[in-house]
Amino acid sequence: MTAADPVKVMKQEVGKAAAALVQSSSIVGLGTGSTTAYAIQFIGDRLKSGELKDIVGVPTSFQAEVLAKQYGIPLTTLDAIDHIDIAIDGADEVDPQKNLVKGGGAAHTREKVVDYLAERFIVVVDGGKLVDRLGAAFPVPVEVIPMAVNPVMQAIKKLGGKPELRMGVRKAGPVITDQGNMVIDVTFDTIENPVDLEKILNNIPGVLENGIFVNCVDKVLIGEVIDGQPTVREM
Ligand code: 5RP
Repeated sequence: MTAADPVKVMKQEVGKAAAALVQSSSIVGLGTGSTTAYAIQFIGDRLKSGELKDIVGVPTSFQAEVLAKQYGIPLTTLDAIDHIDIAIDGADEVDPQKNLVKGGGAAHTREKVVDYLAERFIVVVDGGKLVDRLGAAFPVPVEVIPMAVNPVMQAIKKLGGKPELRMGVRKAGPVITDQGNMVIDVTFDTIENPVDLEKILNNIPGVLENGIFVNCVDKVLIGEVIDGQPTVREM
């Protein structure tokens, strides 16, 4: 018998810890990514066992929608509700102020809508996502309408960023988002002020949304493998 992959077990544990924060009769934002996928699975398990009742989910992507259906979580849309109680989502970088870079799965536009609406936004990451400063390890994803890719790239270069159109894996051509747009990944030497950069990027004509999330996180749950043992701690 092969031993369980400790990274997978750690992601499961942090997903389980986040799922445990969901209460009955709540509207839950369902994030995107490999870590959140476990939270969705465990919310489904809690519903199935009867421990949780009367939950509806708001998916942040096609992936989240498929997983929610697979694990039996009823879904709703933002047209049908007036608030979200709790959202659980992953991140690609987390700084000491709990600001994030998101969009590794090209879902940051819908994620930002749902996560920002939530009364409690819980982030689930592994320890490798913690950075002293945003932009240190991961480029900032910028969703752009297709006809504006070239001018947006030029504008980003003038800001000092290095833009790269995200290409598909096992699909020829660029990544197309759930909204039918493209993603430009932007590397900055340093991001001095994420609050300003988020606004500046979104002000470029043709940009739909970027992956900098500021002042919106309530709790960061961090999964780590220490001495071969998966652990979860709060930031
Ligand atoms: C998708 C995201 C994800 O939440 C982020 O990329 C983290 O994913 P993972 O848990 O697989 O590392 O922002 O757009």
